[in-house]
Amino acid sequence: MRRALTYAAIVALVLASGAFVSTASAADLPTNVTLEGCGTKQPPVDFDHAKHTERTKCGTCHHTQAELTAESAEEVATCVSCHKDPEEAKTPSCAEMSPKKNPYHIKCMGCHKDEVKKDASLKGKAPTTCKECHVKK
Ligand code: HEC
Ligand code: HEC
Ligand code: HEC
Ligand code: HEC
Repeated sequence: MRRALTYAAIVALVLASGAFVSTASAADLPTNVTLEGCGTKQPPVDFDHAKHTERTKCGTCHHTQAELTAESAEEVATCVSCHKDPEEAKTPSCAEMSPKKNPYHIKCMGCHKDEVKKDASLKGKAPTTCKECHVKK
């Protein structure tokens, strides 16, 4: 009941703000996610969500929900809900090839590059090249 109410409140908020938010809450924490559908130039990217939640806090990636934790009741908006065909031209698009214009390239590749710089033994483990993320199958 409480959850239904919370959800209704969030839907109302979302409708009011005009944004689109998916229906998964932090309680439905994904383990593995296939990131796909932003374009067809490169193969999809397998993302181990569970391992990454041990590597950094939720808000590092879910930047619009800075206080998010695994215990939060709030609904979690997917990246694509805002980054696929973004409303504003200055918002990074997940269909972009450029390292500086694609939100995943900025965030994911960016952290991996920083980590490898700090600890060279992570080279090959934290992917920084196209083929390591966009694995051909
Ligand atoms: C750290 C992982 C990572 C690395 C490294 C990376 N990408 Fe991506 N890239 C992604 C993710 C995640 C997406 C979103 C995929 C989707 O949802 O379709 C993406 C999307 C794309 C897209 C738009 C979708 C498509 O297939 O048309 C292109 C083009 C692309 N990447 C090219 C590249 C190129 C070229 C490189 C190397 C210079 C590269 N990527 C390196 C993770 C990565
Ligand atoms: C390293 C980046 C990263 C971290 C850290 C992270 N997430 Fe995610 N999360 C993602 C990505 C990427 C997706 C897939 C989004 C998409 O499909 O657009 C996702 C998806 C989700 C989803 C599913 C949303 C849906 O509707 O499908 C939930 C729930 C979620 N995350 C909760 C959390 C919580 C809670 C934490 C912290 C305990 C967390 N995430 C930490 C990147 C991250
Ligand atoms: C509710 C909408 C929304 C959601 C959900 C969202 N973003 Fe964003 N994001 C934005 C907007 C708008 C901007 C551009 C304005 C800004 O920089 O805040 C942005 C900017 C970014 C940037 C560029 C910031 C910089 O430092 O250059 C990255 C990277 C990014 N988002 C990654 C992600 C990832 C990864 C996810 C999912 C885990 C995600 N975003 C979820 C709306 C969203
Ligand atoms: C806060 C830093 C950080 C962010 C942000 C981050 N990663 Fe990672 N990622 C790592 C580290 C560190 C490793 C390697 C850890 C190891 O093997 O010891 C890694 C490893 C990986 C691997 C190899 C398999 C695995 O999980 O061990 C993939 C694929 C990957 N990341 C994809 C992504 C994608 C896609 C995103 C963005 C949605 C992302 N990462 C965001 C730090 C990060």
